Amino acid sequence: MDAHTEVFAVIGNPVKHSLSPFMQNLAFEKLSLNSVYSAFEVVDLESAVKGIKGLGIKGVSVTVPHKENIIKYLDEQSESAKKIGAVNTVTNKNGVLEGDNTDWKGFILSLREHSLIKGKKTLVIGAGGASRGVCYGLASENADLFITNRTKSKGIELAKDFNAEFVDLESIEKLEPEIIINTTSVGMYPYINKSPVDKSLFKGKGVALDIVYNPLNTKFLRDAAMSGFKAVSGVGMFVYQGGLQFEKWTGKKFPFQIMKEKIFHKLRKG
Ligand code: ATR
Repeated sequence: MDAHTEVFAVIGNPVKHSLSPFMQNLAFEKLSLNSVYSAFEVVDLESAVKGIKGLGIKGVSVTVPHKENIIKYLDEQSESAKKIGAVNTVTNKNGVLEGDNTDWKGFILSLREHSLIKGKKTLVIGAGGASRGVCYGLASENADLFITNRTKSKGIELAKDFNAEFVDLESIEKLEPEIIINTTSVGMYPYINKSPVDKSLFKGKGVALDIVYNPLNTKFLRDAAMSGFKAVSGVGMFVYQGGLQFEKWTGKKFPFQIMKEKIFHKLRKG
């Protein structure tokens, strides 16, 4: 580090568990860039955003719980961020702060490695912020999109926004989807033996993706694998969304495959 070092960061709360600093700094190192990526636990979001401008921080990743609230403090938004209603990437363009969303694209790049998407009967479980990004991606890839959620009204709202069909949790078994995505936090540490759906949902052959990546092998994914589905963890999505941020900020190619292995290795070690 010296007086020329460019500064990047993730803002969230809590943020101490984030793997983004590990991943982004490793990429800076591999590409010999004079840049550093830190983590800030942010309570006062408005001041934090002023700080990005004031200090000339070049780019910021945004995580829970600030992805939606940050929009009102930014100068510009990409089309995807507008439609999703959430920003995970801020780019400081000479003092103009632009909000973008790479979560949806990261999700699609990861899913594409395991399945065709166009026309596939796809069920999204959950209707929160994370689900909006996933649904945006699936809708833009022309999946045959179905949504289920514990709170029916939220699911119906979301389905309307993305031209999808809402299905009651009680009726999803009849659907027989080929792709099933868990966007809820059910199954995340410490509730590692919980799944948002019954394992009887997995019929025939298909692909199940959990956006949770810690633990790597959630109950949802264990049930899917036992029923003959291909189980895909959230690691790929995490690496792609971060790599896309890196490429946007630096204009350089991100080492996606190396980084996926590194993150898998780190999570396996615990
Ligand atoms: P995020 O931004 O991470 O998506 P969120 O907006 O709080 O977080 O959304 C969480 C999603 O997980 C919601 O769909 C929520 O269902 P409700 O709309 O009924 O609240 C779902 N969820 C969270 N805990 C759940 C649980 N124990 N069982 C079923 N669904 C759950």
